[in-house]
Amino acid sequence: MDWLDFITNLGRIVRAIATDQIAWLMPALYVRLTGQTGRGEEVGVGLTADYFRGCFYDYFQELSIAADAIPAYLHDKQVVEYGPGDMPAVALLMVAYGARCVVCVDRFPLLRLSAQNIKVLKQLVTNLPAAQRARAEHCFVTPGQPDSGFNPAHIAYRVTPSGLSGLADWADLIVSRAVLEHVNDLTATFADMYAALRPGATAIHMVDLRSHGLHRHNPLDFLCWPPRLWGWMYGHKGVPNRWRVDRYRAVVQISGLETLALRPIVVLEQGLIDLVRPKLARPFRHLNDQDLSWLNFWLVCRKPVANP
Ligand SMILES: C[S@@+](CC[C@H](N)C(=O)[O-])C[C@H]1O[C@@H](n2cnc3c(N)ncnc32)[C@H](O)[C@@H]1O
Repeated sequence: MDWLDFITNLGRIVRAIATDQIAWLMPALYVRLTGQTGRGEEVGVGLTADYFRGCFYDYFQELSIAADAIPAYLHDKQVVEYGPGDMPAVALLMVAYGARCVVCVDRFPLLRLSAQNIKVLKQLVTNLPAAQRARAEHCFVTPGQPDSGFNPAHIAYRVTPSGLSGLADWADLIVSRAVLEHVNDLTATFADMYAALRPGATAIHMVDLRSHGLHRHNPLDFLCWPPRLWGWMYGHKGVPNRWRVDRYRAVVQISGLETLALRPIVVLEQGLIDLVRPKLARPFRHLNDQDLSWLNFWLVCRKPVANP
């Protein structure tokens, strides 16, 4: 970013720094004012329920577990979900299909039992086969009544500093979708994951490295903002931390987890990489074209059975 870019964007910079102070000092107010769901725009009950069903099945597809083998795989498992968004719908499906309980952890208090979210939860429960439906109904304080809240014996929702679970040797499975790119301290999150997993247990994450609406002309031009200025503008809002896949490789290795799979889903075309490269901020200049091209990816890792 040069001085001309800086002056052109001065209004945006001042606004973003001011609103970051609200997010820092009053995160709950910030979340309410911005109406965040974690999924972007509200799209209606049916599509939202479809989205969460898709999220649930995607994990098992990526783990090469056939749909009819999910109940056996999940049977009695203790699951952690980082960053569930405004409703623990994936957690509900995990318990419905056999998990004993799910702990959902978030850095922001996004959970809302709004009329819309209650309808989504009801629809998810209603569309389940009988055995799964009975299990899902018991996830609520009053069985079958989402508006009564979640029964913490099955679905616990915790908001903690930096969204860390603080669990030790507890989880049989850890999942997240479109979360790791928001975490403020990636090393701490992977250390938390390592501590929370039981030896031999798996963590699976879908990571979305796109700009989340914060680019202007090129999908990667949000990587041109200098890190300090980006931190002042967005440090407390949970917007993308901008780390690329090279950082994830390094952090997984430091954590002691084993990488079982790391694969891109969508990659950016070379022409757009060539256009943005001369303006990249310092932390992204060393990246090779391939790492820069990854716009989202799956990461599957496992805690080794013996401590490294
Ligand atoms: C884009 S939303 C995704 C929500 C949900 N997984 C989905 O697919 O709809 C990102 C989520 O990550 C949460 N988050 C942000 N920073 C976090 C952190 N350090 N630890 C855990 N969750 C975090 C946000 O509050 C939000 O719930």
